[in-house]
Amino acid sequence: MTKSITLIEGDGVGPEIVNAALRVIDASGVHIEWDICEAGAKVFKQGLATGIPKETINSLKRTKVALKGPLETPVGYGEKSANVTLRALFETYANTRPVRHIPGIQTPFSHKAIDFVVVRENVEDLYAGIEYLQTPSVAEALKLITREGSEKIIRFAFEYALSEGRQKVHCATKANILKLTEGLFKKIFEEVSNEYPTIEAHHIIIDNCAHQMVVRPEMFDVIVTTNLQGDIISDLGSGLVGGLGVAPAANIGDEVAIFEAVHGSAPDIAGKNSVNPTAILFSTVLMLRYLKEFEAAHRIEQSLLYTLGTLRAFTKDLDKNSNLTTTAFTDIVIQNLGKETDFWKPRSYKPLHLPKVRDVPRSISRKEVGVDIYIESSFSAESLGKSLEEIALPSPFYLKMISNRSVQVYPSLEGIKPDMTDQWRARFFLKNENESISDIELLNFIERVGHKHLWMHIEKLQEFNDAPAFTKAQGES
Ligand code: NAI
Repeated sequence: MTKSITLIEGDGVGPEIVNAALRVIDASGVHIEWDICEAGAKVFKQGLATGIPKETINSLKRTKVALKGPLETPVGYGEKSANVTLRALFETYANTRPVRHIPGIQTPFSHKAIDFVVVRENVEDLYAGIEYLQTPSVAEALKLITREGSEKIIRFAFEYALSEGRQKVHCATKANILKLTEGLFKKIFEEVSNEYPTIEAHHIIIDNCAHQMVVRPEMFDVIVTTNLQGDIISDLGSGLVGGLGVAPAANIGDEVAIFEAVHGSAPDIAGKNSVNPTAILFSTVLMLRYLKEFEAAHRIEQSLLYTLGTLRAFTKDLDKNSNLTTTAFTDIVIQNLGKETDFWKPRSYKPLHLPKVRDVPRSISRKEVGVDIYIESSFSAESLGKSLEEIALPSPFYLKMISNRSVQVYPSLEGIKPDMTDQWRARFFLKNENESISDIELLNFIERVGHKHLWMHIEKLQEFNDAPAFTKAQGES
């Protein structure tokens, strides 16, 4: 059956690598009807601020799958990258980056049995890009981690492991420091892992994970992690096995999946017929497996391994003395379709089952216990503390503490003299913890603070099921 797939050539070297992919897929015997669409630099320059025309969006809605070259955001056009827009529009929440030693490609890690996949949450976290300058010298970014988003990517990681017959999933977080955001991700991993008893589940702190990826990369099978951590460790992974020219990626959502090389548009070599098409060719292997074309995926993968590992045919990025062009490399891959190697242990691939996450209503008791008010002030900690205590006297609140750059500075802690900025967090609790407080009373209190001090942000302090829904400052009792 002929499948219809959206094809976005992209910018710079995009048309050269995409052409290589089309030739190889065609030669592999899979019939695809390509719906050729535009996105990226050309579209920005035509004046469309998103870089993604309506026709491309409609095509993806129809075909549900795209093969994509790299997209540039030209300086001076639009604010957001077209890649990020595509990701957000189609909620491709799972970025998967296989990291496997490629025979023939020498790296300091070639002797290690590297074969793992980084599954990166691709939508949430700091990538929401919600930022504020709270004072002229203090910037804030919101790290948003949701229960649903975390559950979805974690289930996806286990399902991905099952589809490839992998045995272990590591969840890499910074839950030791970010107890509520990264901690939520870890907690959900622990819950979900119980439903996959055939797969080993481990938690690892992200910095140790980075360390182990270099020292003992063979210990990993699947690593699931939050967006920013995943961004960094997936590039570390590419570096372990030969770099940008060979690293494929898949962005998978409930409805739509987009396959691409990890590298960018490489403007320095665009149009020179010298770009290495290996990364996009490995991406086509991922795409064909996603489409359940297991046989063609295997043939292309084996031909690439034969070309690189047995023939040692390399483009210039992998062998600086080589004159092998992009098209000549592609010819060799096509000629060798059908060759088998024993470089990679065969895996029994199964269709990937995409998880469905239901928003289960949970009964949660909720209590407001206080408020954090963020204040810009040139006062000392002592004078600010005394002033806020005075303001709170006739109110339902008392000042629990003030922190500066997350360290409690009032009441001052014995011997601790942190560097301070002009941004302070004043933490007030209700005097009577059994009392509830109306928004009007809260706003009246904030207004009283505002008479004397410049506040720019507030955060309600809540308890869910009697547990605090906020963290303590360093040194706070
Ligand atoms: P880049 O990946 O395009 O290039 C970095 C260096 O690696 C260059 O020297 C390039 O020649 C080389 N290189 C990359 N891929 C290669 C390959 N397959 N074969 C041989 N050499 C290769 O990164 P850069 O220069 O930071 O980004 C250029 C543009 O691409 C930017 O506008 C960026 O925003 C965009 N970009 C798009 C991505 C996407 O669409 N997924 C991903 C990364 C960057």
